[in-house]
Formats: sequence, C-alpha cells, structure tokens
Amino acid sequence: MSNVIVTREDPIAVVQLNRPEVLNALSEGLLDELVAALEALDSDDAVRCIVLTGNEKAFAAGADIKTQFVEATPISMLKQDLTTRWERVRKIRTPIVAAVSGYALGGGCELAMVCDIIVASETAQFGQPEIDLGIIPGAGGTQRLTRTVGKYVAMELILTGRRVKADEAKAIGLVAHVYPAATFLEDAKALARTIAAKPPVAVRLATEAVDIALNSTLDAGLEFERRSFYLLFATEDKQEGVDAFVNKRKPVFKGR
Ligand code: CAA
Repeated sequence: MSNVIVTREDPIAVVQLNRPEVLNALSEGLLDELVAALEALDSDDAVRCIVLTGNEKAFAAGADIKTQFVEATPISMLKQDLTTRWERVRKIRTPIVAAVSGYALGGGCELAMVCDIIVASETAQFGQPEIDLGIIPGAGGTQRLTRTVGKYVAMELILTGRRVKADEAKAIGLVAHVYPAATFLEDAKALARTIAAKPPVAVRLATEAVDIALNSTLDAGLEFERRSFYLLFATEDKQEGVDAFVNKRKPVFKGR
C-alpha cells in the first residue's frame, strides 16, 4: 500500500498521508513519496492548489520514532539527510493547504507549517513534543513556530511539549480556519478551489512575497513586492481582472 495517496480533482489535488497504523509517522519512505507526489503536481499547470491531509485521527504524529530514532546517532541522522526532503517541500510553488484533523505533532506540526495555509478540523491538536524525547524540533519548528506565534508562546510550547487544540491554534495565529469535523475536508477543498480560481501568476508572486516577509528585511520584502506588483501589469490576467470589474462580469483567469 502506498504511503501517500493522490487524488486529482482538477484544478485542485488532494494528497493524503497514508500510514494510519502509526498515525502517519513521517518515515523516510513516506517523505520520499510525499516529495515525489508534490513535485509531480507542481510541474502540472492543470493543478492550481493542493490540499495536504491525513486521516481523521492524525495529520501526522511526527518523525517515525521507532524506525528513525531508536538506533540513531548524529552521523546516521546526517546521512538520512531529512533536511533536503523538507527543503524540497518548501520549494513547491503551487499553494498547499494543510488540512489538519487529529494530531499534528513534532514533524507533523512542522510539515503543516511548511505549507502555505493551515486549516483545521475542530478535532485537531498541534504540538512540538520533541522535548519529551530528549531532543528539540528538527524540521523547522523552532523557527517557523516562533515566526508564526511569537517568541513567548513558541517558547512555552517547545519547552513544555504542550498540545494546542484547534481553537487555541486559531487564536495564536497558527490556523486560518477551524471547520466542523463532519465537513472539514470538503471545507478545505472549497478553500483550495477558491484559490485555484485566482490568477495563477499573481498567486505565485503573492505566495513568494509573503514567504519573503518571514525570511528577510522589510526593505528587501517591500522591494520584491514592488517589482512583483509592476510585473503583474504585463499579464493578460490583469487585463481580464480589471475588464471584468469594469464590465460587472466574472473574470476567467488563464495564467498568462
Ligand atoms: N513514530 C512511530 N510510531 C508512532 C508515532 C511516531 N511518531 N506516533 C504514534 N505511533 C504509533 C504508536 O507507537 C502506536 O503503535 P502500536 O499500535 O504498534 O503501539 C500507534 O502509532 C498508535 O499510537 P498510540 O497507541 O500511541 O495512540 P494514542 O492515541 O494513545 O496516542 C499520540 C497518540 C499522543 C500521538 C502518541 O502516539 C504520541 O505521543 N506519539 C508520538 C508523538 C511525538 O513525540 N512526535 C514527535 C516525534 S519527533 C519529531 O517529529 C522530530 C522532528 O522534528 C522531525
């Protein structure tokens, strides 16, 4: 059975993590399949937004502790080179909505944070419990959580390993929406379809600009935004959007 299931519903695609017996623990095999699936979708213009999800009980419960950590040494961890896989997920340009039901812990929380938007079922629980294993987050948690919720909340969560439920995750800015458990995946897909209907070049530049805000100075970010803004005036989609507004009709964007 595959560790990752891809369902195409063009213009969106759903990527489901599929190791339910271990709460979608992120083994090397699963990460390899995930990276391959996301890169394949990213290279296909027909896919304009991706929903990344797990199952009802778990988005992902983190690194596979049993297969990856029991015998691990610094050298074996270095050779596993998990960072390269995480970097490849980060470089996907098609927007990814992380749709979290149940546990998103450790690497599972970090995987959600690599995505562009996080939405949650009311059953979701987020956390960085690595401290209880004698380690710290190793896939970006100390950096992305801090940039997202600020130093003092991030510090408390990382030092205690406390789990945060959906409503608190929304209150601290980790989650964009909390949906009812019964409809959550459909709600996440509806959000993805909304984004998929937007002008793809503008979506791409907006995504990059927001990411740059977390990764550079204000001046550098403003410069990127300014150039991207001007560049979009050369697109057919800008003509279409403005014309549709002026003539009171719905725009149809083509990614040109
Ligand atoms: N790795 C490997 N197996 C895991 C796992 C993980 N991260 N999380 C759960 N499982 C397995 C359990 O061992 C169990 O398997 P068995 O039936 O063979 O015993 C199965 O999944 C079901 O789990 P539980 O019986 O524990 O389910 P529960 O509902 O009682 O508890 C839980 C759920 C609170 C999430 C608990 O499983 C748990 O604490 N998991 C570990 C969470 C964790 O510490 N994650 C961080 C990992 S480190 C990391 O991610 C580093 C990084 O930065 C990349």
